[in-house]
Amino acid sequence: MLKVKDINLYYGAAQALRGVSLSAEPGKVTCVLGRNGVGKTSLLRAMVGQYPIASGSIMFDGADISGLKPYERARRGIGFVPQGREIFPLLTVEENLKTGFGPLKRDDRNI
Ligand SMILES: Nc1ncnc2c1ncn2[C@@H]1O[C@H](COP(=O)(O)OP(=O)(O)O)[C@@H](O)[C@H]1O
Ligand SMILES: [Mg+2]
Repeated sequence: MLKVKDINLYYGAAQALRGVSLSAEPGKVTCVLGRNGVGKTSLLRAMVGQYPIASGSIMFDGADISGLKPYERARRGIGFVPQGREIFPLLTVEENLKTGFGPLKRDDRNI
């Protein structure tokens, strides 16, 4: 279970997320919808740790992960597939997929 509770996120003086809460249950697809600029990407960046939150909490499997580094969250299974072409253009498709192996033990590195 992934639980986001009452998070606030700022880009300088501009507030992008205001008191956002969300629950995502295992085995279910949780969808966040909204027009351009409402903060969907900011919410994902906050959950994976790419951008810090000012307040609130992010719980994953009962533990507060909001203070963890992105690679520590990745190790726990939290990832983010961005829209657009945020890939490594000089790598093959297979090599691009394998970049996600970084935080995993060797035995867990299967596609
Ligand atoms: N790096 C940034 N610096 C300043 N403002 C940003 C940055 N990224 C996004 N924003 C602003 O934060 C708001 C939410 O953007 P975003 O999370 O990208 O929305 P969405 O993904 O729903 O389109 C928008 O007003 C956007 O202009
Ligand atoms: Mg977006």
